Amino acid sequence: MPSPAGHHLRPSYAAALLILALQLSYCGGARSSSSSSSPATSPSPKVPAVIVFGDSTVDTGNNNAIGTILKSDFAPYGRDMAGGPKPTGRFCNGRLPPDFISEALGLPPLVPAYLDPAYGIDDFARGVCFASAGTGLDNKTADVLSVIPLWKEVEYFKEYQRRLRRHVGRVRARRIVSDALYVVSIGTNDFLENYYLFVTGRFMEFTVEEFEDFLVSQAEWFLAEIHRLGARRVTFAGLSPIGCLPLERTLNVFRGGCIEEYNQVARDYNEKLVAMLGRLMASRPKLKVAYINVYKNMLDLITNPSTLGLENVEEGCCATGKVEMSYMCNDKSPMTCEDAGKFFFWDSFHPTEKVNKFFAKETLDLCYEQLL
Ligand SMILES: *[C@@H]1O[C@H](CO)[C@@H](O)[C@H](O)[C@H]1NC(C)=O
Repeated sequence: MPSPAGHHLRPSYAAALLILALQLSYCGGARSSSSSSSPATSPSPKVPAVIVFGDSTVDTGNNNAIGTILKSDFAPYGRDMAGGPKPTGRFCNGRLPPDFISEALGLPPLVPAYLDPAYGIDDFARGVCFASAGTGLDNKTADVLSVIPLWKEVEYFKEYQRRLRRHVGRVRARRIVSDALYVVSIGTNDFLENYYLFVTGRFMEFTVEEFEDFLVSQAEWFLAEIHRLGARRVTFAGLSPIGCLPLERTLNVFRGGCIEEYNQVARDYNEKLVAMLGRLMASRPKLKVAYINVYKNMLDLITNPSTLGLENVEEGCCATGKVEMSYMCNDKSPMTCEDAGKFFFWDSFHPTEKVNKFFAKETLDLCYEQLL
């Protein structure tokens, strides 16, 4: 098992940080072939490509290629992938929401990571993921675990467009970029790995309300930038009840249960985000952004787990389920559950494939209503 030693983080610090990262918001679609109301049987895809930005909730493997301790390209990650166990760098036992969306829209069942050398521009022309586990809207969030900052995801997007133009020509490249569905999921780490972890000093610079405003301004910058670069149809995930992630429940030692203060922050941020999206679309008539209410979607499931046959919505399947993720969730963990289908969470921070698929379907319904 690789050790975090040798990185600039002190080991105890690194261990604490390891536990804290990533983002819980989803976008996706699961109008799979088994879904009844689906128009997905049409022979040609609904959109030319699915293009993904954000953090671990949607990172399909970019962190495999960079020097960070935040990885998941080893067992038991990926253990329930179709065709047998395959750790890909997805923080899940299986697929992520963008994968389900892509498949439901008639595109490949996996969205390839841009930094994965096994894929080329031929593949990326039908779907590409620039997301990086551990990143955030604030530049400083990406610094905490040395992952890809959001501005660099945008730089990769520009490089991608240059490669695409060389590959399919200017006209088709522009068509792919403008007709693609953009899936964006980011923000949890800004609070849980940055502001509330106290490592970046942001908590001294900003009150939490000011920090929410700052993050929303960064989201606005990002959306304006990808719009300027050609994006037209975007799904943007709000924050989940971040105080209910297993790790946060574990940290809530004295009171137990969800950390209500964090959930309140998520609700406040979401409200500001929605207002910003309204303003942004009013000033850019060709831009459509669907807000994904991850907060509600997740709380509904936590409150009524039986709708999806879930038996545990408080702990991850992997290891003890209370703190482990990334290298701490590994093949040597004796307590890992047998059936992840009974769990909401796969590790202490990320949902199981079953839940990802469920959220994907809710989101795809919204995409059909508002974007496609
Ligand atoms: C984030 O970093 C990039 C690259 O250094 C820089 O261009 C950008 O202005 C930074 N954003 C903020 C809000 O500081």
